[in-house]
Amino acid sequence: MESKILEVITKRRSIRNYGPGEIEEEKLRLILESARLAPSSCNSQPWHFIVVKDRKKIEDLSKDVPVGEKIIGYYASNRFISKASIIIVACANPHPITHSAAKVAGMDLLMLDMGIAIEHMVLTAAELGIGTCWLGYFSDKKIRKLLGIPKRTKIAALLSLGYPDVTGRSKEQKRKELREIYSINTYKKQ
Ligand SMILES: Cc1cc2nc3c(=O)[nH]c(=O)nc-3n(C[C@H](O)[C@H](O)[C@H](O)COP(=O)(O)O)c2cc1C
Repeated sequence: MESKILEVITKRRSIRNYGPGEIEEEKLRLILESARLAPSSCNSQPWHFIVVKDRKKIEDLSKDVPVGEKIIGYYASNRFISKASIIIVACANPHPITHSAAKVAGMDLLMLDMGIAIEHMVLTAAELGIGTCWLGYFSDKKIRKLLGIPKRTKIAALLSLGYPDVTGRSKEQKRKELREIYSINTYKKQ
Protein backbone atom coordinates (compact mmCIF):
# COMPACT_ATOMS: atom_id res chain seq x y z
CA MET A 1 0.00 0.00 0.00
CA GLU A 2 1.24 3.50 -0.81
CA SER A 3 0.70 6.69 1.14
CA LYS A 4 1.51 10.06 -0.39
CA ILE A 5 1.58 11.76 2.98
CA LEU A 6 3.95 9.12 4.37
CA GLU A 7 6.27 9.74 1.42
CA VAL A 8 6.46 13.42 2.37
CA ILE A 9 6.88 12.58 6.07
CA THR A 10 9.72 10.21 5.20
CA LYS A 11 11.57 12.67 3.01
CA ARG A 12 11.26 15.62 5.44
CA ARG A 13 14.33 16.61 7.46
CA SER A 14 15.12 19.66 9.52
CA ILE A 15 16.97 21.92 7.09
CA ARG A 16 19.45 24.37 8.58
CA ASN A 17 21.42 25.26 5.44
CA TYR A 18 19.62 27.48 2.99
CA GLY A 19 20.45 28.45 -0.57
CA PRO A 20 19.76 31.83 -2.17
CA GLY A 21 16.29 31.25 -3.75
CA GLU A 22 13.30 33.19 -2.43
CA ILE A 23 10.05 31.40 -1.64
CA GLU A 24 7.36 32.18 -4.19
CA GLU A 25 4.23 33.96 -2.92
CA GLU A 26 1.99 31.18 -4.23
CA LYS A 27 3.90 28.53 -2.28
CA LEU A 28 3.87 30.62 0.86
CA ARG A 29 0.10 30.88 0.57
CA LEU A 30 -0.21 27.10 0.27
CA ILE A 31 1.94 26.66 3.36
CA LEU A 32 -0.21 29.11 5.33
CA GLU A 33 -3.38 27.52 3.96
CA SER A 34 -2.30 24.18 5.41
CA ALA A 35 -2.07 25.81 8.84
CA ARG A 36 -5.48 27.42 8.38
CA LEU A 37 -7.04 24.00 7.80
CA ALA A 38 -5.49 22.40 10.88
CA PRO A 39 -7.75 20.95 13.57
CA SER A 40 -7.80 22.68 16.96
CA SER A 41 -9.48 22.10 20.29
CA CYS A 42 -13.09 23.35 20.14
CA ASN A 43 -12.14 24.68 16.70
CA SER A 44 -10.60 27.61 18.54
CA GLN A 45 -8.02 28.33 15.80
CA PRO A 46 -5.84 30.20 18.28
CA TRP A 47 -3.03 31.02 15.84
CA HIS A 48 -1.61 34.12 14.31
CA PHE A 49 1.45 33.70 12.09
CA ILE A 50 3.88 36.55 11.61
CA VAL A 51 5.63 36.02 8.28
CA VAL A 52 8.98 37.74 8.57
CA LYS A 53 10.51 38.43 5.14
CA ASP A 54 12.39 41.64 5.80
CA ARG A 55 16.16 40.83 5.69
CA LYS A 56 17.01 43.24 8.47
CA LYS A 57 14.33 41.74 10.73
CA ILE A 58 15.51 38.20 9.93
CA GLU A 59 19.05 39.26 10.79
CA ASP A 60 17.78 40.77 14.07
CA LEU A 61 15.80 37.61 14.83
CA SER A 62 18.89 35.49 14.26
CA LYS A 63 20.64 37.55 16.91
CA ASP A 64 17.69 37.10 19.25
CA VAL A 65 18.12 33.36 19.47
CA PRO A 66 20.43 32.58 22.32
CA VAL A 67 23.59 30.58 21.82
CA GLY A 68 22.87 27.56 23.92
CA GLU A 69 26.06 25.58 24.32
CA LYS A 70 25.71 25.61 28.05
CA ILE A 71 22.08 24.52 27.99
CA ILE A 72 21.82 21.95 25.25
CA GLY A 73 25.03 21.28 23.37
CA TYR A 74 23.08 20.15 20.34
CA TYR A 75 21.48 23.56 19.82
CA ALA A 76 24.87 25.25 19.92
CA SER A 77 23.39 28.05 17.91
CA ASN A 78 20.19 28.84 16.13
CA ARG A 79 21.92 31.65 14.25
CA PHE A 80 21.61 29.65 11.03
CA ILE A 81 18.20 31.28 10.63
CA SER A 82 19.92 34.41 9.30
CA LYS A 83 20.15 32.60 5.92
CA ALA A 84 16.48 31.62 5.88
CA SER A 85 14.25 33.13 3.23
CA ILE A 86 11.36 33.52 5.65
CA ILE A 87 10.83 33.08 9.37
CA ILE A 88 7.32 32.33 10.57
CA VAL A 89 6.73 33.30 14.17
CA ALA A 90 3.85 31.16 15.36
CA CYS A 91 1.79 33.08 17.90
CA ALA A 92 -1.04 31.70 20.03
CA ASN A 93 -3.95 33.59 21.49
CA PRO A 94 -5.41 31.80 24.52
CA HIS A 95 -9.11 31.07 24.06
CA PRO A 96 -11.51 30.84 27.04
CA ILE A 97 -12.97 27.54 25.82
CA THR A 98 -9.65 25.79 25.43
CA HIS A 99 -8.52 27.30 28.67
CA SER A 100 -11.32 25.61 30.62
CA ALA A 101 -11.05 22.40 28.57
CA ALA A 102 -7.33 22.35 29.31
CA LYS A 103 -8.06 22.60 33.03
CA VAL A 104 -10.22 19.45 32.80
CA ALA A 105 -7.74 17.56 30.65
CA GLY A 106 -4.77 18.89 32.60
CA MET A 107 -2.99 19.64 29.38
CA ASP A 108 -1.78 22.57 27.37
CA LEU A 109 -4.27 22.30 24.53
CA LEU A 110 -3.21 25.67 23.19
CA MET A 111 0.29 24.43 22.45
CA LEU A 112 -1.04 21.15 21.07
CA ASP A 113 -3.15 23.14 18.60
CA MET A 114 -0.14 25.19 17.64
CA GLY A 115 2.04 22.12 17.14
CA ILE A 116 -0.44 20.61 14.72
CA ALA A 117 -0.74 23.79 12.64
CA ILE A 118 3.02 24.30 12.53
CA GLU A 119 3.66 20.71 11.46
CA HIS A 120 1.03 21.07 8.71
CA MET A 121 3.17 23.92 7.36
CA VAL A 122 6.36 21.88 7.72
CA LEU A 123 4.90 19.00 5.71
CA THR A 124 3.41 21.22 3.01
CA ALA A 125 6.75 22.97 2.66
CA ALA A 126 8.53 19.60 2.38
CA GLU A 127 6.15 18.55 -0.37
CA LEU A 128 6.96 21.78 -2.23
CA GLY A 129 10.72 21.19 -1.90
CA ILE A 130 11.13 23.91 0.75
CA GLY A 131 13.26 23.20 3.79
CA THR A 132 12.13 24.11 7.30
CA CYS A 133 13.41 23.92 10.83
CA TRP A 134 11.36 24.21 13.98
CA LEU A 135 12.86 26.51 16.61
CA GLY A 136 11.70 26.02 20.14
CA TYR A 137 14.71 27.74 21.49
CA PHE A 138 14.53 31.53 21.27
CA SER A 139 14.38 34.61 23.40
CA ASP A 140 10.69 35.27 23.98
CA LYS A 141 11.34 38.70 25.45
CA LYS A 142 13.48 40.03 22.58
CA ILE A 143 11.30 38.64 19.79
CA ARG A 144 8.16 39.99 21.45
CA LYS A 145 9.71 43.45 21.48
CA LEU A 146 11.10 43.27 17.94
CA LEU A 147 7.77 42.25 16.39
CA GLY A 148 5.35 44.09 18.67
CA ILE A 149 3.65 40.94 19.99
CA PRO A 150 1.04 41.77 22.65
CA LYS A 151 1.46 40.56 26.23
CA ARG A 152 -1.42 38.06 26.28
CA THR A 153 -0.27 36.45 23.02
CA LYS A 154 2.17 33.56 23.41
CA ILE A 155 4.96 32.64 21.04
CA ALA A 156 4.71 28.90 20.42
CA ALA A 157 7.71 28.45 18.13
CA LEU A 158 9.59 29.88 15.19
CA LEU A 159 9.83 28.16 11.84
CA SER A 160 12.65 28.96 9.46
CA LEU A 161 12.00 28.33 5.77
CA GLY A 162 14.16 28.36 2.67
CA TYR A 163 15.25 26.36 -0.31
CA PRO A 164 17.83 23.85 0.91
CA ASP A 165 21.45 24.51 0.07
CA VAL A 166 22.14 21.52 -2.13
CA THR A 167 25.83 21.55 -1.25
CA GLY A 168 25.03 21.12 2.44
CA ARG A 169 24.18 17.84 4.10
CA SER A 170 21.26 17.21 6.38
CA LYS A 171 21.95 14.27 8.58
CA GLU A 172 19.23 11.70 9.01
CA GLN A 173 18.28 11.57 12.66
CA LYS A 174 17.64 8.11 14.08
CA ARG A 175 14.16 7.06 15.06
CA LYS A 176 12.98 4.41 17.50
CA GLU A 177 11.70 1.19 15.98
CA LEU A 178 7.96 0.92 15.43
CA ARG A 179 7.61 -1.88 17.98
CA GLU A 180 9.14 0.41 20.61
CA ILE A 181 6.56 3.16 20.35
CA TYR A 182 3.19 1.50 20.77
CA SER A 183 1.30 -1.14 22.68
CA ILE A 184 -2.22 -2.49 22.25
CA ASN A 185 -4.94 -2.20 24.87
CA THR A 186 -2.71 -1.44 27.84
CA TYR A 187 0.39 0.59 28.45
CA LYS A 188 3.43 -1.57 28.06
CA LYS A 189 6.57 -0.58 29.89
CA GLN A 190 9.67 -0.57 27.70
C1 LIG B 1 9.18 21.62 19.14
C2 LIG B 1 10.51 21.52 18.44
C3 LIG B 1 11.53 22.42 18.76
C4 LIG B 1 12.76 22.37 18.08
N1 LIG B 1 13.69 23.33 18.34
C5 LIG B 1 14.84 23.35 17.60
C6 LIG B 1 15.78 24.40 17.79
O1 LIG B 1 15.60 25.31 18.61
N2 LIG B 1 16.89 24.38 17.00
C7 LIG B 1 17.14 23.41 16.06
O2 LIG B 1 18.16 23.49 15.37
N3 LIG B 1 16.25 22.41 15.87
C8 LIG B 1 15.11 22.35 16.62
N4 LIG B 1 14.19 21.36 16.39
C9 LIG B 1 14.44 20.31 15.37
C10 LIG B 1 14.79 18.95 15.99
O3 LIG B 1 16.09 19.00 16.51
C11 LIG B 1 14.66 17.86 14.94
O4 LIG B 1 13.32 17.80 14.49
C12 LIG B 1 15.05 16.48 15.46
O5 LIG B 1 16.40 16.44 15.84
C13 LIG B 1 14.82 15.37 14.40
O6 LIG B 1 15.54 15.66 13.21
P1 LIG B 1 14.79 15.83 11.82
O7 LIG B 1 13.76 16.94 11.98
O8 LIG B 1 15.83 16.19 10.80
O9 LIG B 1 14.13 14.53 11.51
C14 LIG B 1 12.98 21.36 17.08
C15 LIG B 1 11.95 20.46 16.78
C16 LIG B 1 10.74 20.54 17.43
C17 LIG B 1 9.63 19.59 17.03
